[in-house]
Amino acid sequence: MKDRSRPRLIVVMGLGFAVLLAIGVIAQAATQTLFARELTPLFGDAQDGTAIGNVTPGTPVQSAETSSGRTSITMDGWAQQGGDTVIYTAVGQRIVLATLTQAGLAHRQILDTARDAYGNTWNHVQVTGFADSGEFVPDVNVVWTAAHQLYSTRCSACHALHATTDFTANQWPGILQTMEKNAALDPQQSALITQYLQTHARAP
Ligand code: HEC
Repeated sequence: MKDRSRPRLIVVMGLGFAVLLAIGVIAQAATQTLFARELTPLFGDAQDGTAIGNVTPGTPVQSAETSSGRTSITMDGWAQQGGDTVIYTAVGQRIVLATLTQAGLAHRQILDTARDAYGNTWNHVQVTGFADSGEFVPDVNVVWTAAHQLYSTRCSACHALHATTDFTANQWPGILQTMEKNAALDPQQSALITQYLQTHARAP
């Protein structure tokens, strides 16, 4: 009796171990929401390749960790028909989540369609790609704290710092066109400050 039950016990323990391992793997593969720290290149696959676009700082993405140092990311937003390569947060709301190259359009899926107040057609799109996992953080406040520091040092040299709520999200980009030259911001700094001001802007 004893001799026959022992192998069975080992099999049961083995199965139990396998189940625990599987749960662990599934838990690791589960998606989580992460935020881009800076202007981050988006790639079409997990290996090296040409970027198919850029993800803007503070953009939330659904991420499932991969082993190669690149994480698969999915994001959704809205693009105006005819200007399909720029993905915004909402219909008529000009906060850029990501920009795609023409090739990048193959990595987007249209989920839904809507019209804005002016009769323009907008597509609700989902974009899927890969990016370096080091470019993302789980806490968006890390991004906004860095942005606020940069904003307060670079945008208060000539005048008092403006409140982010002095303008709406759609007004800020026009102002920044001149001011980013005034402050001699590089593209990374400009993207960070733009996103910060628009995300914390006055409600439309
Ligand atoms: C080199 C000096 C200088 C720097 C640096 C500078 N500004 Fe200005 N800013 C000005 C001047 C001059 C004006 C007023 C004239 C104008 O609107 O161009 C102004 C006006 C503004 C206004 C008011 C616009 C309006 O329509 O009422 C805002 C907002 C502003 N700046 C934001 C910023 C931001 C954000 C930064 C940092 C990216 C910045 N500024 C950096 C010189 C500067």
